[in-house]
Amino acid sequence: MALESLNDLHIEDEGQHHISSEVKMSQIVLPCHANHCGELSVGQLLKWMDCTACLSAERHAGCPCVTASVDDIYFEQTISVGQVVNIKAKVNRAFNSSMEVGIKVNCEDLYSGLHSRVCQAFATFVARSTGTSKVHLKQVVPSTYREQVEHSLAAERRRMRLKHHEIMDELLNNKSFQITEEADIRKEDKAVETKRTRVESVELVLPTHANHQANTFGGQIMAWMENVAIIAASRLCKAHPTLRTIDMFYFRGPSQVGDRLVLKAIVNNTFKNSMEVGVCAEAYQGEEPLRHINSAFMTFEALDEKGRPCPLPPIIPEPQEGKRRYREALARKKIRLDRKYIISCKQTEVPLSVPWDPSNQVYLSYNNVSALKMIAAKNNWVLSSKKNNVSLYTVEENQSLCFRVEFEVDVPAHRAFTLVSDLRQRQEWDQHYTRCELLIGVDEDDFIYQVVTPSVGDKGKVQDFILLASRRPPCNSGDPYVIALRSVTLPTHPPTEDFNRGEVVCAGFTIYAVSETVSKISYYNQASPEVLPYISTDIAGLSSSYYSTFCACSRYLLENKVGPSASDILPSAVELKTPL
Ligand code: COA
Ligand code: ADP
Repeated sequence: MALESLNDLHIEDEGQHHISSEVKMSQIVLPCHANHCGELSVGQLLKWMDCTACLSAERHAGCPCVTASVDDIYFEQTISVGQVVNIKAKVNRAFNSSMEVGIKVNCEDLYSGLHSRVCQAFATFVARSTGTSKVHLKQVVPSTYREQVEHSLAAERRRMRLKHHEIMDELLNNKSFQITEEADIRKEDKAVETKRTRVESVELVLPTHANHQANTFGGQIMAWMENVAIIAASRLCKAHPTLRTIDMFYFRGPSQVGDRLVLKAIVNNTFKNSMEVGVCAEAYQGEEPLRHINSAFMTFEALDEKGRPCPLPPIIPEPQEGKRRYREALARKKIRLDRKYIISCKQTEVPLSVPWDPSNQVYLSYNNVSALKMIAAKNNWVLSSKKNNVSLYTVEENQSLCFRVEFEVDVPAHRAFTLVSDLRQRQEWDQHYTRCELLIGVDEDDFIYQVVTPSVGDKGKVQDFILLASRRPPCNSGDPYVIALRSVTLPTHPPTEDFNRGEVVCAGFTIYAVSETVSKISYYNQASPEVLPYISTDIAGLSSSYYSTFCACSRYLLENKVGPSASDILPSAVELKTPL
């Protein structure tokens, strides 16, 4: 990981790709930036990160911008006095008035010359217009492979962050996350009452804390929040705690010079070696009521002299609100783990079938769509075979083989998307689909199917697959329609004697509108052992069954060129959720 970010830094240092929004900041860590242990305070780092990202956003927007939200941040290491922090920020994608800024932080040791990764973050900035109308930002045009991938994934990340609150509320109210019995709350001898960790502190926003529009810097607020969180955490562990993660958060409203910011923190729960501290930031001026600016959840560890996490005492939460937060912290821990594991895993490291459950649905579908987008963005595809207007491409990397079949058809892209995205219709044109049943309609864009395919050899059993299909219409004009497929495991549908359970690592379609009436359809598949036999003879040039399959697809699309839209064909999510 560290090497990867270092490479990025070096490549771009050579000036090969000039990116107009890119901004870099390098700071030598001085004692005034550090805590009493000689480590850079995370609050200071957050201020530098926010400032670099804000300057990058403003460089793209050409007008003042404010921090709207920051996705989860995982801190991989601490930085010592005397080391150099290198921060690089650039706009990955602009939407309407908002844009995603990618931030990379690495630490450089001046004596050894070694660079290592500290963290990566994605922040959303919103351009503020000086007039009454909303700013409409110019688009980012990605040029390198990496930029294309980030540009494409930014659309999926935006979807996830805009749903974040809704998802969290739904999950926190979900019965499976609730601990109903009081007895579940640990009351051991060494248990610590959380009221001992409660912190409340006030800050006056001065011009030095604000930008040229007198708006408080988001990074400054984050730094103040981290300051109170660390006090609460220290009161619990009676040692110096290290911040490991900050959950995704959102600035609900602006704050200005002259505001009094009230920051409150308390330990919500402890786990074996870590604790969750919640912080709430509210603002007021004069006799005005408090305005809720932000709430954040931070995970801390207490490390011993060898850098290993020390066990933490259990806690006794305060009644009512404390107990609710105690339970919610447990739920957030599970969600955090799912999110980190599913989202940040490299495609090759993700186990083939990930268990599906409502709490990880949004992350699985992010993983599903992003994996397909990454395969689609590869720039080393090799044409392996072409028959009439159907082309077969392959790309071999390490131990993976991906293939792509591509053709154009005289059907509008939105209609092709409607037809292809309902997997049950695939039996009409794909001989490999003997049967397809819709098991769960998760929401309007995600569906789980059971697909039955013929046996590979003469004596083999027929195969079945449990597939998550995630469909995405274009985010902007010029984007493709995307239908991503991957295997998941469902507790309600374990493998049975009747079938060999096959697995799809990553497959799906992208559909581009070539014109109003013509679309270019690309089918992708990262070949798993169960899928490979269906295509290997084609890739080896021994047959062209791909050609007949996709000719049948083309015919099917042409025959059904006119018809109802996707929402009329696919059953509603609510209707299908109940059978689970
Ligand atoms: N995460 C990321 N982006 C978000 C978001 C979230 N949780 N909620 C809204 N947005 C985006 C919207 O998608 C929209 O983007 P688009 O124009 O590209 O489509 C943009 O913010 C504006 O949304 P809109 O609905 O018009 O405005 P809003 O009333 O929701 O306000 C903010 C959004 C961010 C402008 C507003 O909440 C705010 O001023 N927050 C404080 C920002 C600030 O001052 N930060 C510094 C520290 S206080
Ligand atoms: P919630 O209570 O749902 O977690 P809030 O936005 O009210 O959401 O608070 C966020 C976090 O801030 C809480 O989880 C808690 O850890 C901390 N917090 C809130 N209010 C106080 C308070 N009065 N004193 C100390 N900490 C607080």
